Amino acid sequence: MKVIAIIGCGRIARNAHLPALSQLDDVRIKYGCDIIEEKAKKLQEDFPKIENVITDYNVALADPEIDAVWVLTPNFAHYTVTMDALRAGKHVLCEKPITVNYALSKEMKQMADKMGKMLNIGVCNRHHASVEKLYEMNKNGEFGNIYHIYCSFRSCRSIPGLGGDFTTKAVSGGGALIDWGVHFLDLILYVLGGAKLKTVTCDTYCEMAKDMASYKYKGMWAEDTKNLNGTNDVDDFVTGYVRTDKASISINGAWAQNLDKGEMFVDFLGDKKGARLAYQGKIEVFDGETLETTAPEYDIPNQYLEENKAFLESIDTGVKTRGNIDNVLESALLLDLLYQSADAHKEIVVE
Ligand SMILES: NC(=O)c1ccc[n+]([C@@H]2O[C@H](COP(=O)([O-])OP(=O)(O)OC[C@H]3O[C@@H](n4cnc5c(N)ncnc54)[C@H](O)[C@@H]3O)[C@@H](O)[C@H]2O)c1
Repeated sequence: MKVIAIIGCGRIARNAHLPALSQLDDVRIKYGCDIIEEKAKKLQEDFPKIENVITDYNVALADPEIDAVWVLTPNFAHYTVTMDALRAGKHVLCEKPITVNYALSKEMKQMADKMGKMLNIGVCNRHHASVEKLYEMNKNGEFGNIYHIYCSFRSCRSIPGLGGDFTTKAVSGGGALIDWGVHFLDLILYVLGGAKLKTVTCDTYCEMAKDMASYKYKGMWAEDTKNLNGTNDVDDFVTGYVRTDKASISINGAWAQNLDKGEMFVDFLGDKKGARLAYQGKIEVFDGETLETTAPEYDIPNQYLEENKAFLESIDTGVKTRGNIDNVLESALLLDLLYQSADAHKEIVVE
């Protein structure tokens, strides 16, 4: 039996982790913590497995019964809460992105190493059946040489909580690239089995809602944090090109664009076979003659169940899993280099 605390009782807690953790018999959720007490209380009402509501996470960190904490706060707080939790001797499952930049992410890894605790990151796509299949196909050489990967994560209207946490760089670390791109970069590097970065070029744009009041709103998540008197200083469009010792990667992402359509996919182009992964959906594999379509074996909520189970098991076994920070740091570095290139308006040569 593991005794845990949930820190941050917002959307990802409610939609992903609590439904997953509620299915696991060998977990006690001793605390649900949020600086906004009503949010923690409402979550407890809906998920009675939460035994106590607190507003100061230090209460959970000081409790010797707590084995592990889930850090589900806005991005900038991942660093402080995770470092405090590790120092207190707790294992941590921290949501993606690791935090707002690579330097702080590395410090988090170093603290996990120093304290001998597991630190996993919520890279849920590594636990998605379709991504796993692509990983296995590549490992078995089915693609031949993957020479290029193209990803597109573009929506017509999806700037989340305009003027709130997600669009304020000091809180989020960035926009579409850090929020959505992090998933794509991470799953690409996972399927490749890692890659050495050579050059990174990127441009980011904050165009669609530079005048927030005139942005033609359709729908968005994080609507509760929308604040047109707040800040929007992050990328709503990103385009990038990466050379590695394996495949080159092109990236196009938009939280919003003046095109009445959106798309979310990753193309893996190999000299024997190619595959299109519909993001969090089916895979189409083509060898020039035959088209095979594979539907995922499980749906989106289940990837969080797998993620939670893998983390809990790793605490018992002491074996680091695919979601461990050691395996996720390279996509955090790539994310950082893309932003560095965009800020400097020039290509970054890594080696
Ligand atoms: N894996 C995924 O696909 C996925 C999806 C959505 C969000 N996320 C990540 O999850 C994190 C949270 O996102 P969200 O959409 O749930 O945001 P949210 O704003 O809905 O929830 C965050 C909660 O944390 C609370 N909080 C802030 N500081 C705190 C502190 N010091 N102690 C306790 N509580 C604190 C806030 O009051 C809020 O209720 C983000 O890092 C986001 O990137 C991941």
